[in-house]
Parts: sequence; C-alpha cells; structure tokens
Amino acid sequence: MAVKAYDLTGRTAFVTGAASGIGRASALLLAEAGATVHCADRDARKLHETAALIKAAGGEAHAHELDVADKEQIDRAVAQAAAAATTTGTGTGRGTGTGTGTGRLDIMAAIAGIMHNSPVLETREKDLDRVLDINFKGVLYACQAAARAMIEAGRGGSIITMASGAVDTGGPGLLCYGASKAAVVQLTKTLATEVGPHAIRVNAVAPGWIRTPMTERHDSQAQAHTEGVMTRMSPLGRVGDPDDIAHAVLHLASDASSFTTGQILRPNGGVAMPW
Ligand SMILES: NC(=O)c1ccc[n+]([C@@H]2O[C@H](COP(=O)([O-])OP(=O)(O)OC[C@H]3O[C@@H](n4cnc5c(N)ncnc54)[C@H](O)[C@@H]3O)[C@@H](O)[C@H]2O)c1
Repeated sequence: MAVKAYDLTGRTAFVTGAASGIGRASALLLAEAGATVHCADRDARKLHETAALIKAAGGEAHAHELDVADKEQIDRAVAQAAAAATTTGTGTGRGTGTGTGTGRLDIMAAIAGIMHNSPVLETREKDLDRVLDINFKGVLYACQAAARAMIEAGRGGSIITMASGAVDTGGPGLLCYGASKAAVVQLTKTLATEVGPHAIRVNAVAPGWIRTPMTERHDSQAQAHTEGVMTRMSPLGRVGDPDDIAHAVLHLASDASSFTTGQILRPNGGVAMPW
C-alpha cells in the first residue's frame, strides 16, 4: 500500500449490501486495502460470489446471508464478525484502549438499500414501511451493533452509512426513498456526536447517479434517456460507477479521514453542490 493512511491491514470490516453494485465494489476495495471483510446480503448466490472474488484476489472474506431489516440477524452477524477477529491489527490508535481485547470491529459500511418510486398521492403505507424498514432501520441496526462492538473493544472505528443525492435534490416519486435517506443523514449526524468520545467516526456517502442493478431500466431507451439527463447535469459529463463510490467508502473507512466525522461526502459528479 503506497499511502500508509489507506492501509487497512489487520482491520475487520462489515459491509451490508455486499452482493451487488456499490456494496460489492466497496467490499472488494476494502479487502484490497488489507481488511478482513465480512460481507452481508440477502442475495445468497451473489453474496458468495463477492466473497469468492475477494478470496480469488488474495483477500480474506466471510459471507453472512441476512436481512438487514431483521435486528436479531444483524446483531448476531456483527457479534460473530467481531468475535472472530484477532486483536493484533493496528487499530486507529485513537481509541481509549480500555476494551477487553476479546474481539474487534473497525469498519461498518451500511450500504444495503432498495429503491422505490411512487407519487405522494399514490404512496401506500406498506410501501413506506418496507422502504423505511430496509433503508433506515436496516442502517440503524447495523450502526447500533457496530458501535456497541467498537465501544467494547475500545479501539475506535469508522461507521459509514449510505445516503443519496436524493437528500439534496428531491424529485417526483422520491418520497419513500428520499425520506429514508434523509433519516440516514440524521442518524449519521446524531450518532457521530454520541460516539465521538469513543474515537468512533460516523459519516455518510451521498452518491449521485451510479450505474448499478438498482438504476438499471428494463427499457434501454428509458435507460439512455435518464443517463443522458444525469450526464448533462454533471460538470464532469458522465454518470458514476460503483468504484467511484467504493473509493469514497475507503477514504472514510481509513485513517486518511481521521478528523472527519458527522459529514456527508457527495461523490455526485457535481450534480448538486450544497454548502
Ligand atoms: N445506484 C445509485 O445511483 C445510488 C445512488 C445513491 C445511493 N445509492 C445507495 O447505494 C446503496 C447500494 O445501491 P446499489 O446501487 O449498489 O444497488 P444494488 O441493487 O446493486 O445493491 C443493493 C444490495 O442491497 C441488498 N439488499 C437489499 N435489501 C436488503 C435486505 N433487506 N437485507 C440484505 N440485503 C439487502 C441487495 O440484495 C443488493 O445486493 C443503496 O443504499 C442505495 O440506496 C445508490
């Protein structure tokens, strides 16, 4: 690793949504940077594919098939991941050092999420519940489990949540999705203030339009139209790739961002530029 601050050797990471798109790219990159990566997703086939890709590249990976909306499943998997980890890694060097040394979790990247589109007047309660259960409560449970493990180990850590450019721009049909992501931003800022004294940093990534299975349209004309609009809106003149976001996740996971907490990082091609 050329730049030491990005070296994650000896660290343990837990990545939700690791079977696809941004989550898979992030899991692969964190492993490339040296972390042992616990991959979690409800899509068993693609989840094991991600773990196999990491191992084929020489990294260390474990797979946890789970539903992030189920608190018990998340609690159990995160506790297993922390317990399995050795305590010989470098840590952030900023923790209290009072942990028991029985396990460790250094990085949580809570990335799993779903899209939902419906006009406000046609939105049903069950749609709102489903989106909030996965996109907000799923992230909350992952953050809670990670923060508890990190506090217990006393070595600090980094928690990364996945928001969206939808929190900056809004748009027709985005009520459920945008509300869930706005809640993720609030969770991120609130948790950052509460766990900062334990040397745990909490930041959100708010990507712009990224080409993944989530943004794939069945109709190629509709796909070209949407990507054309996003491309014209971006000063960089393109839409994003999962690797664009994985690098933002790596930055927040690593010591390179050691003075950054409670922030929203916006890899969005310049589509929105809030203060
Ligand atoms: N693609 C974009 O343009 C974009 C933009 C902004 C934010 N995001 C966010 O990035 C994250 C990843 O999105 P993506 O584009 O990679 O999508 P994706 O559909 O490729 O990947 C999402 C992953 O989450 C998993 N998942 C969904 N619900 C789950 C559940 N209940 N339990 C466990 N796993 C579950 C899916 O199985 C899938 O592997 C999401 O939170 C999304 O909202 C995406």
